[in-house]
Amino acid sequence: MILVTGATGNVGGHVLALLVASGHDVRALSRSPQAAAWPAEVGVVAGDLADPAALAAALAGVESVFLFAVPGSGPAFVAAAQRAGIRRVVLLSSGAVDDEAEVQDGPIAAYHAEIEQALRGSGLAWTFLRPDVFAANTLMWAGQTKAGDVIRGAYAEAASAPVHEADIAAVAVAALTEDGHSGQVYRLTGPESLTHAEQAAILGRALGRPIRYEELPAETVSQEMSAHVPAPILDDILATWAAAVGRTAPTTADVEKLTGRPARSYHDWAHDHAAAF
Ligand SMILES: NC(=O)c1ccc[n+]([C@@H]2O[C@H](COP(=O)([O-])OP(=O)(O)OC[C@H]3O[C@@H](n4cnc5c(N)ncnc54)[C@H](OP(=O)(O)O)[C@@H]3O)[C@@H](O)[C@H]2O)c1
Repeated sequence: MILVTGATGNVGGHVLALLVASGHDVRALSRSPQAAAWPAEVGVVAGDLADPAALAAALAGVESVFLFAVPGSGPAFVAAAQRAGIRRVVLLSSGAVDDEAEVQDGPIAAYHAEIEQALRGSGLAWTFLRPDVFAANTLMWAGQTKAGDVIRGAYAEAASAPVHEADIAAVAVAALTEDGHSGQVYRLTGPESLTHAEQAAILGRALGRPIRYEELPAETVSQEMSAHVPAPILDDILATWAAAVGRTAPTTADVEKLTGRPARSYHDWAHDHAAAF
């Protein structure tokens, strides 16, 4: 039995679907199971990773877990997993984690690194997935593309190698279902470095109309985003974008190595999600 946490999310939803399609025994965890539609083959349990000590029922009979990273949950999750006899954990971590840093740069890297640390010392077989920026982050542009052909945002020239959530999920499924991934850290990227402005132009091509990115001052964007994003996380995101201006984002071959096919491009992603824009 494989337990999928974050199963209503971008990545976990694909993990669940891929595991069901390949005939695995799957259970899903959600804080609000009644709020989502589930495949008939999936057993669904209510539970909160912020309180892993209460997850005994969710973990009973489970061999492997796809783990969503909830801040501060690492040690208690490890204890619950050890009690339940879990063998394997595949963590959706973050490309922000820096193995060389004594102190992680910002809260996003820090809380993922803490959970990694708890798993490293656990005796469980672990695999860490460290994705670059999700292509799905650009869903935040959908309101603007529905209203017009201009996306206004911060740092037009900030570069990343945006990764398709389905590729992260395919790697997760390989790590959950095949041997040989224990103790491995996979840095998952899309196939190319793209700036925000380049992503907007590609999105436009996928939608069949010209779309351009207009840069706003970071302070303006910060004020707008502060309605939805907690201050420390927002500062971290803006600092990451500022540092990414003028750089080429590194790409890796890990998606292809684990899935046997090249990472999907941002154009592929935009095509897959065109209806949202
Ligand atoms: N966005 C990026 O660019 C990026 C880059 C690298 C890494 N990441 C990491 O990837 C993760 C986001 O993945 P995603 O986009 O697939 O997620 P998402 O779409 O934001 O969905 C969040 C999922 O996590 C579950 N969840 C949240 N808090 C929970 C809790 N306390 N207990 C149990 N489940 C909880 C939610 O389930 P319910 O609501 O059903 O309980 C939902 O399924 C984050 O850890 C993020 O740091 C993101």
